[in-house]
Amino acid sequence: MNKRKKIVVFTGAGISAESGLKTFRDSDGLWENYRIEDVATPEAWRRNKSLVLDFYNERRRQLLNAQPNAAHLALVELEKLYEVVIITQNVDDLHERAGSKRVIHLHGELLKARSSLNENLVYEWRTDLKIGDTCELGSQLRPHVVWFGETVPKMQEAIKETLDADILLVIGTSLQVYPAASIVQYAPRNAEKYYIDPKADELSFYGVQAISKKAGEGVPELVKELMRI
Ligand code: OAD
Repeated sequence: MNKRKKIVVFTGAGISAESGLKTFRDSDGLWENYRIEDVATPEAWRRNKSLVLDFYNERRRQLLNAQPNAAHLALVELEKLYEVVIITQNVDDLHERAGSKRVIHLHGELLKARSSLNENLVYEWRTDLKIGDTCELGSQLRPHVVWFGETVPKMQEAIKETLDADILLVIGTSLQVYPAASIVQYAPRNAEKYYIDPKADELSFYGVQAISKKAGEGVPELVKELMRI
């Protein structure tokens, strides 16, 4: 039997938009209503922990009421024919709930909390995170997310997975945030590349086939095509 082809899927907030979760940079996106420097940096956390916790508590509550959409579900189908690795910038768990088996979260996970003393002490967390919730060392727990100005611990693992991709799918991301966005540059030159995003035409990069559609429509269509081969 031939070795299965490998598909690397790189996703951003746009894939979860049709599940009711806001993106960051679209009109009425999260960064229009909150300032990054108030809620998503280590300095914000030092200055006002309650404000930061409130921001992520609201995100977590919304996530627990959201469901995977047609795009998350279609990606699971690909596993019948291909080796599939999902690299997501999203902190939601909608890929996992849809059934995807290999998901790398570059920017952390909303349903986890971690020690502010030891980043390896990570706990499942599904309720509001409050001042006074502590890790086993006694330090305040923080959201298990990567903030602006922090390193992206999973970056090397994600790059390694991308280097031998036969096909790259980029879905619902503005490709504005580095280092995450650099993932697309690590796919082999001859890999087939697709970019599904309503703004794919304007954001498009070299060698990619831009599909300017919402994920809920564009992803199931492309998956159908990829399953025909
Ligand atoms: P952005 O908000 O920057 O971009 C969202 C993308 O989704 C845009 O290109 C939209 O055109 C697209 N979009 C909107 N609706 C869509 C739909 N229904 N289907 C498909 N695409 C749609 O979000 P990201 O690129 O994910 O990081 O942002 C990257 C990082 O910036 C995030 O992980 C987060 C943020 O600040 C941190 O918080 C560290």
